[in-house]
Amino acid sequence: PKPPVTITLTGAGGQIGYAAMFRIAAGDMLGADQPVALRLLEIPQGMRGAEGAAMELADCAFPLLAGVEITDDPNVGFDGASVAMLIGSRPRTAGMERGDLLAANGAIFGPQGRAIGAHAADDVRVIVVGNPANTNALIAQQHAPDLPPERFTALTRLDHNRAVGLLAAEAGVAVADVGGVTIWGNHSATQYPDLSHATVSGRPALDAVDPAWARGAYVDRVAKRGAEIIEVRGGSSVASAANAAIEHVRDWALGTPDGAWTSAAVVSRGEYGVPAGLVSSFPVVSRGGDWEIVEGLSVDEFSRRRIDASVAELVAERDAVRELGLIE
Ligand code: NAI
Repeated sequence: PKPPVTITLTGAGGQIGYAAMFRIAAGDMLGADQPVALRLLEIPQGMRGAEGAAMELADCAFPLLAGVEITDDPNVGFDGASVAMLIGSRPRTAGMERGDLLAANGAIFGPQGRAIGAHAADDVRVIVVGNPANTNALIAQQHAPDLPPERFTALTRLDHNRAVGLLAAEAGVAVADVGGVTIWGNHSATQYPDLSHATVSGRPALDAVDPAWARGAYVDRVAKRGAEIIEVRGGSSVASAANAAIEHVRDWALGTPDGAWTSAAVVSRGEYGVPAGLVSSFPVVSRGGDWEIVEGLSVDEFSRRRIDASVAELVAERDAVRELGLIE
């Protein structure tokens, strides 16, 4: 058997952690022949939740689960980690100013980034789920200067999957018949789900659905799907978020299917006019264990405006965390 891969989950006492860990231990993320060792990193208030979840993991007797360790010390939590899923964060609550939000998250993702840089495996893959995900990933990346920046990513796969699902429903086809959807920019209300290059059963999506819908109500609905779920379910997206995080890591480690791209927030090198260094969502494929941005796609005027608006928000977030002294 292969040696186990160490996977660290932060916020493991919370909802998304709970939804993710059983699937990871069952082999849904790294494959049915890959043993996994789980590290559950929490804050003191979350330790009991993580301990309870670990008891349930034991009660599943997963053959692939090589061990579970629970800690509230990031230096222990990330030691030897090859996958770090940063789920725990300080999301925005009513009345919270942006500066307070960014400062609270800087206090989480700065030290976690530093601990990853100091203790994680050289091949560590970091995915930030906790919001504001893109900027939290940027803060963590900036605190691990010895690791290649491309090891740090943020989750927009949930937005991508929502965009695929809603397009398939509108076109009346199976999800498997939809391709070429892209999420650009920030995981926020400014994100841009782009159907310019999407296909439905092999033909352009903009021929299969009303283009006015594709660039109007659709964009809004994808961006606000999280609020729609809260409204209907009475709680935030949990299982779908965990699923997206698992698919992001799986594709990153094992590769995307030939001829298909997905979306992920990765460190820009200036592609598509996105300032270098920002963690922004792009169309990506994974080859040989690394994300590659799909280049050369045409960007029309409408798309340009939407991408620029979301990227402007990322620039503003970066400038705000710089001003707070959270990054250089
Ligand atoms: P939750 O509140 O149920 O769980 C969060 C857990 O994180 C808590 O147990 C808390 O104790 C822990 N935590 C807080 N600070 C921590 C730290 N410094 N180190 C380790 N653990 C810490 O929240 P839930 O539903 O699991 O969501 C987690 C995050 O994911 C939220 O920020 C949410 O906004 C975000 N999210 C992101 C999505 C995306 O697509 N990027 C989609 C859905 C949620």
